[in-house]
Amino acid sequence: MISLRDITEADAGLLYMWKDDAIYKEMASHPEYINTVEKQQEDIECAITDPDQDYKLILLDNEPIGYIRVGWYDYGDVGRVGWISYALGTHRGCGHCRKALNIYFDQITTPVQINATVYTINLASQQLLEGLGFKRIHTYMKITGAHTYSLSLPR
Ligand SMILES: CC(C)(COP(=O)(O)OP(=O)(O)OC[C@H]1O[C@@H](n2cnc3c(N)ncnc32)[C@H](O)[C@@H]1OP(=O)(O)O)[C@@H](O)C(=O)NCCC(=O)NCCS
Repeated sequence: MISLRDITEADAGLLYMWKDDAIYKEMASHPEYINTVEKQQEDIECAITDPDQDYKLILLDNEPIGYIRVGWYDYGDVGRVGWISYALGTHRGCGHCRKALNIYFDQITTPVQINATVYTINLASQQLLEGLGFKRIHTYMKITGAHTYSLSLPR
């Protein structure tokens, strides 16, 4: 069963390991991103103390398998916008992330927009977002290229 829990500082090693993975680096990471356990620890401390950030671990039968992170911003007329990122460690290809995102989205009861930026080569993530009802709103063609997707919640 998939569930979510808040991240803790003790999860820094897991985050490091997942972000050190070759598929993660190719599909989801900026080439200049420096991944260390200390960096993950700092990120987690920052997220825990920031009311405008959600950082959740995805659990499969209570064991951590990935994460969802959302940074929330107020965009004037558009309203509250959350920029989301997510990844699984090794448990890919079974639809776990879709279930986890649905759990997260179902907890949102006030009108918001969720945005995600996805590299053009990341077909699994694009398919995942489109399956959840996200629409592609923008395409960047710098270097690797990336699409921005958007979803209005609650659905
Ligand atoms: C993106 C990610 C979280 C998806 O994990 P997942 O829940 O296991 O998703 P799945 O592998 O089940 O794939 C999701 C959908 O994409 C499809 N898909 C997977 N690989 C694909 C490919 N190479 N081409 C086209 N579609 C693909 C699946 O068939 C599935 O489609 P469905 O929802 O219609 O059944 C996972 O691949 C991951 O962690 N990737 C590395 C990190 C990452 O890319 N994060 C996102 C940054 S934007």
